[in-house]
Amino acid sequence: MSKQSLIIILSLVAMISTTSPVFGSGGENLENANINFRDTAAVQRGAKWFVNYCFSCHSASYMRYNRLAEDLGIDKDVVLRDLAFADVRIGDTMDIAMRPKDSEAWLGKTPPDLSVISRSRGNDWLFAYMKSFYQDESGGWNNLMLPNASMPHVLWQLQGIQQPVWSTHDERAVIEHLELASPGLQSPQEYEQTVRDLVTFLDYLGEPSKVKRKNVGIWVMLFLVLFTLVAYALKVEYWRDVH
Ligand code: HEC
Repeated sequence: MSKQSLIIILSLVAMISTTSPVFGSGGENLENANINFRDTAAVQRGAKWFVNYCFSCHSASYMRYNRLAEDLGIDKDVVLRDLAFADVRIGDTMDIAMRPKDSEAWLGKTPPDLSVISRSRGNDWLFAYMKSFYQDESGGWNNLMLPNASMPHVLWQLQGIQQPVWSTHDERAVIEHLELASPGLQSPQEYEQTVRDLVTFLDYLGEPSKVKRKNVGIWVMLFLVLFTLVAYALKVEYWRDVH
C-alpha cells in the first residue's frame, strides 16, 4: 500500500472516531443510563411522564407540538388531547403557564427549561438525578446529585421514599447509599424504566433530529469512502503516463 493511501485511510478512521459525543458526558463515575434513542415507544412513554409530572414547572420551549406529533408518529389531535394544555394550538411551542417570578417565589428557584438539559448535563447525570432524591432529617426532599435542590421529588409516589444510610470517612459523616424506606407504586425495576423513558425523551428533546442525522451520517461516510476510492483510482490513471 502506498504512503498516500495509508494517509487517506488513517484520516478517514480519525474522522469517524472523533465524532462520538464529547459534551455532557458527566465526568464522574455515573451509571450508564443505557437509553436507546431509536426506541420511539420509549420516547412516547417518556413524553407522557414528562407532561404528567414535569410540565407543570418545566417548559420545553424549543419544541413544537406538531414536530412532536411528526417525530413520534402520533396523530396531531392525540398530541393536543394527551400532551398539551387546553387551548394551545398544534404549531405552539411547549411553554408553561407559570411565570418565572411566581415559581421563584414558590420554589426558591425558577425551574429551568429542559429543552437542552440532556446536552448540558448528559443522560447519565439525568438518570442518576431522578434516582437520587431522598428524605432528609427535616422530612424535606434532598438530592445526592444536586444537594439542597429546590425541586421536590415529584415522582415519590412511583418510587417510594428513599432515606440515606450514613457512614464515617475521615471523621466526617457521609451518605454511603440510599435505601428504600417505604416502597412506592412501582417496583425498583419499574421505576428505573420510568426514569430511563424520561431520559430518552429528554435526549430526544435535546436533539430531535438525531435518528435522522445518524441515518444520513452512515450514507455520507459510505459515500466519502467510495468517493475516495474513485478519486484514488482516477489519480493512478492520470499519473500513469507521467511516471
Ligand atoms: C414543582 C415544580 C417542579 C416539577 C413538577 C419538576 N421540577 Fe425539576 N426542577 C424544579 C426546580 C425549582 C429546579 C431547580 C432546582 C435547583 O437548581 O435547586 C428543578 C431542576 C431540575 C433539573 C436540574 C436542572 C439543572 O441542571 O440544574 C432537572 C434535570 C429537572 N428539574 C428535571 C425534572 C423532571 C424530569 C421532572 C418531571 C419528572 C421535573 N423536573 C419536575 C421544579 C420542578
